Amino acid sequence: MSKKSPVSRSGRFTGGPAAEVAKFTESISFDWRLWKHDILGSLAHAAMLHKIGVLKKTELVAISKGLNQIHKEIAAGQFKWKAELEDVHMNIEAELTQRVPAGAKLHTARSRNDQVALDVRLWVRDEITALLGEIAGLQRALVSLGEKNADVIIPGYTHLQRAQPVYLAHHLLAYVEMLERDCERLWDCHSRVNVCPLGSGAIAGSTLPLKRELVAKLLGFVNASGQIQLTQNSMDAVSDRDFMIEFAAAAALLAVHISRLAEDVILWVSAEFNYIKIADAYTTGSSLMPQKKNPDIAELARGKTGRVVGNLMALLTLLKGLPMTYNRDLQEDKERLFDTADTVRATTRLMAAMLNHTKVNKPVCAAAAADPALLATDLADYLVKKGMPFRQAHHVVGAVVALAEKTGKPLNQLKLAELQDVNPTFGRDALGVFNLKTAMAKRNITGAPGTKEVAKQLARWREQLS
Ligand code: ARG
Repeated sequence: MSKKSPVSRSGRFTGGPAAEVAKFTESISFDWRLWKHDILGSLAHAAMLHKIGVLKKTELVAISKGLNQIHKEIAAGQFKWKAELEDVHMNIEAELTQRVPAGAKLHTARSRNDQVALDVRLWVRDEITALLGEIAGLQRALVSLGEKNADVIIPGYTHLQRAQPVYLAHHLLAYVEMLERDCERLWDCHSRVNVCPLGSGAIAGSTLPLKRELVAKLLGFVNASGQIQLTQNSMDAVSDRDFMIEFAAAAALLAVHISRLAEDVILWVSAEFNYIKIADAYTTGSSLMPQKKNPDIAELARGKTGRVVGNLMALLTLLKGLPMTYNRDLQEDKERLFDTADTVRATTRLMAAMLNHTKVNKPVCAAAAADPALLATDLADYLVKKGMPFRQAHHVVGAVVALAEKTGKPLNQLKLAELQDVNPTFGRDALGVFNLKTAMAKRNITGAPGTKEVAKQLARWREQLS
């Protein structure tokens, strides 16, 4: 048994919990990370308690001073966290009360249940802002790489088989679009994170005339049109972790997008593709094979996605069997939340850094894009323009492809007579289809990888991200 009884047990209990119980139930080893937000919440709560007459002016001043002092000490790494005080909330409050007697009034009309709900909302709110900044950085890295290689054409792939030519920039901008939707999801989630639960108490609010609006306003729980955002049901407020799951879900999808990008990068740096080269500082070597240079950032980005997806599953499963309202199970949310936030933030940042240190192997890309088979569909479109139904045109070009294979010639080396043997609709201009530059100039509908359209999209993103 620990000698000192933690503050939450004085009165009712005869002593502290058994040592192994304390070790099993503590959360300070990870929830210390909420300290800044816990102090912010306490400062606002104290200001409100003063407004309603629970704290005298001198008491408010002493509490605020004490909390600010503790803030400084924690920031400087001088604060001693005590495991016997269980969590971040009790550590800070106990320390405050030791220094400032009025600290004992701070917990008036507040429970750790609404306190932790508040802290975590404040934490996620900041995290979303920071993550959005990192995502914009990754988008900028993709746009820059596209701009620097604006003339590079590569084969686009379906089934990982060469399909049709695309500008490299078009391929990269596909990820910029995905990332933009991730930002929108995070912002949407932010609107439900940004609601103040304080004042819900342990489960049933308070008999004291709390000014919840004041606390919410002080803490910035205000929507875009300036309205104060308060939770409307105390039971929901202390047990709701939807906002966290939404964040974890948006983060998981972001991680999945980055994982797909990572997979493309891994393929492209392989000797088989050889489309890009990552700077030495952003690759690693092998301890055994001296020639190796591995794309470990991309591989870990792909690998860490598993954890982030797992965290989402863990959070969903954590909630599924919980009766109303707060249950200690909820303490298990934090490590999953922190891990998700840390992982996606670092992954997004490192992928951006890696792409900012990546060069494109233009001659290899040009050789790959010169494969005339990539323009087989253009040849079918040529026949369509001559009035042939597409199904027939597809069949005719299929026969042309088979002929090229049989004669061992690339598609564009076939003679006009050979084409006309397959179908007389082919005219003298048919082989002109295989001019890549002209072919790319023709793909100019919205969203297509045409020369003008890709330039327009690059310019739009450059503008939007600046
Ligand atoms: N450490 C707890 C958590 O993270 C804080 C809330 C504890 N509340 C309680 N009634 N024991 O969930």
